[in-house]
Amino acid sequence: MKSTKIYLMSILMLFVLSVIAQNKPLTSDLKMKVYIDGLMKKMTIDEKIGQLNLCGAGDITTGQTASSDIGKKIREGKVGAILNLKSVDKIRDVQKVAVEESRMKIPVMFGMDVIHGYQTTFPIPLALSCSWDMALIENSARIAATEASADGICWTFSPMVDIARDPRWGRIAEGSGEDAYLGSQVAKAMVKGYQGNDLTRNNTIMACVKHFALYGAAEAGRDYNTTDMSRLRMYNEYLPPYKAAFDAGAGSAMSSFNELDGLPATANEWLMTELLRKQWGFKGFVVTDFTAINEMIEHGLGDLQAVSALALKAGTDMDMVGEGYLTTLKKSLKEGKISEAYINQACRRILEAKYKLGLFDDPYRYCDANRAKTEIGTDEHMNEAREDATQTFVLLKNENQLLPLPINGKIALIGPMADNLYNMAGMWSVAVDHHQSVTVLQGLKNAIGNKAEILCSKGANFVDDPKLDLIINNTEIPTIDPVRTPKELLDEAVAIASKSDVIVATLGEAAEMSGECTSRTNIQIPENQRDLLKALLSTGKPVVLLLFTGRPLDLSWESKNVPAILNVWFGGTQAGNAIADVLFGKVNPSGKLTATFPQNIGQVPIYYNHKNTGRPIDSGKGGWFTKFLSNYMDVSNEPLFPFGYGLSYTTFSYSDLKLDKQKLTSGGKINVSVTLTNTGKYDGAEVAQLYIRDMVGSITRPVKELKGFQKVFLKAGESRTLNFTITPLDLAFYNSDLQFKAEPGDFKVFVGTNSSDTKEGNFTLE
Ligand code: BGC
Repeated sequence: MKSTKIYLMSILMLFVLSVIAQNKPLTSDLKMKVYIDGLMKKMTIDEKIGQLNLCGAGDITTGQTASSDIGKKIREGKVGAILNLKSVDKIRDVQKVAVEESRMKIPVMFGMDVIHGYQTTFPIPLALSCSWDMALIENSARIAATEASADGICWTFSPMVDIARDPRWGRIAEGSGEDAYLGSQVAKAMVKGYQGNDLTRNNTIMACVKHFALYGAAEAGRDYNTTDMSRLRMYNEYLPPYKAAFDAGAGSAMSSFNELDGLPATANEWLMTELLRKQWGFKGFVVTDFTAINEMIEHGLGDLQAVSALALKAGTDMDMVGEGYLTTLKKSLKEGKISEAYINQACRRILEAKYKLGLFDDPYRYCDANRAKTEIGTDEHMNEAREDATQTFVLLKNENQLLPLPINGKIALIGPMADNLYNMAGMWSVAVDHHQSVTVLQGLKNAIGNKAEILCSKGANFVDDPKLDLIINNTEIPTIDPVRTPKELLDEAVAIASKSDVIVATLGEAAEMSGECTSRTNIQIPENQRDLLKALLSTGKPVVLLLFTGRPLDLSWESKNVPAILNVWFGGTQAGNAIADVLFGKVNPSGKLTATFPQNIGQVPIYYNHKNTGRPIDSGKGGWFTKFLSNYMDVSNEPLFPFGYGLSYTTFSYSDLKLDKQKLTSGGKINVSVTLTNTGKYDGAEVAQLYIRDMVGSITRPVKELKGFQKVFLKAGESRTLNFTITPLDLAFYNSDLQFKAEPGDFKVFVGTNSSDTKEGNFTLE
């Protein structure tokens, strides 16, 4: 055994020497290997285990534990990385301890939840995905990386690429919705935005793909809950965005909280080693989610020593805050429960990440105080955030062209979101400076000047229940009005609204009603706010509902009774200005939903790319209920707003769908063309969407699958021919042997404005 090792080492040395002798530069991978081999030779087992430990700094604690004595641990070589320490000065001080006072002088990695921007905060991820604009999304991640790295951060816990089809799950806000194709494009764009082409540059940061895997399918939409899924669904519908992110070069991954096949992801060797490393060839490292190792005790897999050993052996490299690795691995090694090779492997992967980030060349690479002063929250970034936000809003209804509003007369701006700084940025805005946020009131004032009058009133609390208020309120500033009763708030608002020409009602979820641990069983606008909406409507004035939400809501009542609904999600620091841009028509809305809005909670999970049943209902024939067909007695199968839906101030028509051929051969391609015309009065952008349906397969296939989209800007009256290409690769799927193949046969192709409203053609794959 020993002699084999010596033999292999000598071969490697000979190879290195021969490369040097030939004057050829070492490949970067080989250089890294040589460097890390050298380092690891000098490290004690305790120091190696220390690298596997991620300590939490700052006030953000989402688990049951917080880290302590971090300085002492760094000196002792017991910290590999730190999470959520904010500011370049603090990070420099801590790095100094690591590289000057610890024996091995190994730099620490500083990670943070930079989820949708840093100090310049962009719309929440679900909103960003509704832009369907990959360049925009990539650029938002680029700006986030520039700002975070200017403040000392070199690693972000983003992108979250979990497919989510259940709006009860509040974390649907953190991802890109329900579709694997779109989700994969977004995943790639985010990784490129964060990491750029060169991770060693001081303005790029390492991405961490989370939550691996299938976290978005937690049962009943309850956070941290169990996931149980067939391999077919996994491979075809849930795994593609993770794979796309890894293929784009993401440097790290985070294990999810959920179990899968009876084992939490953190201890799931199939997931972390077989799939991730062996099948997909991932070369980075895996960090747990917050205290996920410790939580396996509650899952019923043994004590801390046992679950830590399980996680390490599964292929999980770094332990977030729980210190299971730090406190038990040496004991497990002594007792023969793990081998040193596992520790070496995890330690090597983490050191490699530091190497790739350039931390060994310069541990202070991300600690340029000058950059912190000049590159964070700049006007340029804020302008970008404003423009981006306008692209994410989704116009859900616009009866009689109530929007855009003219800038004149009296505008009543009513609701708890109207003038609340803390509510603009949205969940997971760890580095935002709320005082830089622009409220709706401020945004409207900026746009209006003295051309119109704004009458503003709160009208309602976010919620009237003090217990719930405390949960949704992480600013420690009570949002329940301390002076006025709910009735007084409502009366005041109605009185003001009665004097206006138009009412803009800013209602919906408070920012902290989505994100982590915000599952809801009722996905309507809170009742007290709906009462306000009803009272405003009863004034007889036209009402625009400006909807704030982090998830699809049940808007069945609102969609029938309110003339205009503009969904603005949480638009980030510049939301107020962006809202004014769209309300007054400076920007024409073009966002399209990436998660289906149900008619009611009972339809959930509801998503456009479902399978057919053997008894499908055809609502065209005989209405929405037929006995012994697959339907509900009390509501149709249709969603309230389908995937891909979103209106514009103008109208678009699709005509002349053509395929350049009827038969697709392997290695060939089909061109699908369609004429898109802006038939309305405003210039505007449209997201044209292409779907396919595989009519007969060796396994059942979805009724529709997104396979292409184009966001096109057309002047009023302008027409353009759009071309889409379909190749056999677009038709491939994982069959029951988990082989990724396209099967010959008939296909339908659909192009249109959303997943339910399309023109249709067909072709055959030979
Ligand atoms: C969340 C992760 C996050 C981590 C660190 C966890 O509770 O699930 O998404 O990255 O905390 O803050």
